[in-house]
Amino acid sequence: MEYRNTEQRYGTVAKCLHWIIATAILVQIGIMAYINLFLTDASPFKSYLMTAWHKPIGLASIVLTLLSLHWYLTSPRPRFPIYMQAWEKRLATTVHRCLLLSAVFMPICGLLMSVAAGHLPSFFGLFTIPQFIAKNHDLALLMFDFHSWTACILMGLLALHLAGVCKHLFIHKDNILKRMS
Ligand code: HEM
Ligand code: HEM
Repeated sequence: MEYRNTEQRYGTVAKCLHWIIATAILVQIGIMAYINLFLTDASPFKSYLMTAWHKPIGLASIVLTLLSLHWYLTSPRPRFPIYMQAWEKRLATTVHRCLLLSAVFMPICGLLMSVAAGHLPSFFGLFTIPQFIAKNHDLALLMFDFHSWTACILMGLLALHLAGVCKHLFIHKDNILKRMS
């Protein structure tokens, strides 16, 4: 099992990071969609989902997405299939970069929002993030806005990303999905 990427395929590190982060983001969006659709702000189940799942998964995502960004910037990447047009390659690369950047930015804003509001998140009960910045209501509100906007941007990028994957899968019938699996 090769852990590094080559020009032909992704290595184990890139594949594991990609699928763990993809799952985390989909679970997070699912949790927040459920909360926004079915629960009120006062619901104890909302506060359970936020404290026990949303924030800890988000904290783990900060570390994983930073690792993934580092791996992305320092590893070779498999070449795109030769029949892809230059604009398609540019679009795919831009979407990948923006996905990664927003996946890093979003949980950091979530963390800053919570700490600035004085709601210190716990990592699955193992440790609690300290009050590393002073409480600041305006900063918490700004971070909430950034967190929400990035969620919308991330979902738009994900839709483009999945449309690209489907095009390869159903139209070109190539090995793009297989080389990431
Ligand atoms: C993978 C990372 C994350 C994703 C995809 C994500 C996604 C979301 C989404 C979609 C919302 C709903 C926004 C809205 O209603 O406009 C939200 C809200 C929120 N998130 Fe995150 N989040 C992540 C990480 C974090 C982290 C690390 C924290 C804090 C430690 C956090 C704390 C919050 C809080 C406090 C809210 C507001 C909930 C409310 O409406 O009261 N999130 N998040
Ligand atoms: C569940 C939905 C997802 C599917 C089916 C999927 C599928 C894929 C596939 C097949 C590739 C390989 C493209 C190639 O070989 O050139 C890829 C690459 C990539 N995906 Fe996803 N992806 C998903 C979600 C995500 C999410 C949520 C992110 C957010 C960070 C993401 C970020 C990336 C990046 C940055 C690359 C490029 C990796 C590199 O070149 O090192 N993907 N994805």
